Amino acid sequence: MKHTLLKTTAIAMALSVGVVQAAEYKASTAEGPIKIVNLKAMEAQVEANMDKGAFGYIRGGAEDENNLRANTRAFDKKYIMPRSLQGIEFSDINLKTEFLGIKLDTPIIQAPMAAQGLAHQQGEVATAKGMAKAGSIFSLSTYGNKTIKEVAQAQPGYPFFFQLYMSKNDAFNQYILSQAKQYGAKGIIMTIDSSVGGYREDDVKNNFQFPLGFANLEAFAKISDDKSKTGKGSGISEIYAQAKQAFTPADIQYVKKMSGLPVIVKGIESPEDADTAIKAGADAIWVSNHGGRQLDSAPATIDVLPAIAKVVNKRVPIVFDSGVRRGSHVFKALASGADVVAVGRPILYGLNLGGAEGVNSVIQQLNKELRINMMLGGARNVKEIQATHLYTDADFK
Ligand code: FNR
Repeated sequence: MKHTLLKTTAIAMALSVGVVQAAEYKASTAEGPIKIVNLKAMEAQVEANMDKGAFGYIRGGAEDENNLRANTRAFDKKYIMPRSLQGIEFSDINLKTEFLGIKLDTPIIQAPMAAQGLAHQQGEVATAKGMAKAGSIFSLSTYGNKTIKEVAQAQPGYPFFFQLYMSKNDAFNQYILSQAKQYGAKGIIMTIDSSVGGYREDDVKNNFQFPLGFANLEAFAKISDDKSKTGKGSGISEIYAQAKQAFTPADIQYVKKMSGLPVIVKGIESPEDADTAIKAGADAIWVSNHGGRQLDSAPATIDVLPAIAKVVNKRVPIVFDSGVRRGSHVFKALASGADVVAVGRPILYGLNLGGAEGVNSVIQQLNKELRINMMLGGARNVKEIQATHLYTDADFK
């Protein structure tokens, strides 16, 4: 009798779990500017609102999250010297810059991130609108919940990049690069640091599977006999398993030739890889450790940036990301060799809390902090930040 009861309870529990998993994913529909005290504090606000598995996927890092923490903490070891006798008015402070011929109102751009439908019902379409409002550039992930066509049409005339996770199936690579070109992407971000998914324990604990499909993969499945997984009901490792693993310089040449667009190679942490990528034809280098989501023992990106900048030696521009949460971090990255600085998770938090306007609020908060740092550090514009010397403890011994 007892045994039967237990069995019945177990079946009921299994069924109810099944119902929960099959239930439609409910994302935020929030719209409007958000009040931000600082970017780090947004995380707790979002956690209170969002599905646990989705939040874990967005926030989490690999293994012990050493790299995730180090990325932000490493900025604290670099100092900006206050400069006060250069006759700078606050109204002199100018954030405008250019990247690959694209005019930007700020040196802060958005890092490509998958599955933005987890954060907001309008997903990548709202992020694209928010970045346009901020006078910056939007980047669409291969694993986005919207197609290239949808984001291009959301903001006609506004620049966007397409981020490519090369597939093992070359027909997909050809299809997606031709879509990027057809709909006017200004460049291809070729990510090379995710040949296998980092071991992210939140996803393991939560048994996280994407509740929404990846629009570009679904669109390709409709017009081909490709039987690959298209996101919905899959874990990130299953998706990465379909992506290309053995990268060589020839892949960079291939993507350049196939797309006819500038190629930005993303996921560079070593000067050697930077040099190899440039020799293979990369039009820009994106210094990143994927926000601490891949190799947990990797160094913080701000610590490797100066050595990479030295090897790059201005042959191509440098994008920098991972751990940027303050205007001072943007300043320090630019002063260490970056040309533009990208932000990841906080953009998704802004998207969750305020849709397109929330995304713009995140950029404006960073702009505000950056302007104050520029004024107090004696740099009127991006070029002057880039010429600023940063100090470390070694300078004071
Ligand atoms: C990412 N990132 C990423 N990168 C990429 O090239 N393609 C992608 O699809 C994704 N997807 C993705 C999803 C989520 C939820 C996160 C948080 C990150 C990495 C991203 O572009 C960027 O490198 C990091 O997010 C930067 O670190 P911070 O700013 O989040 O610390």
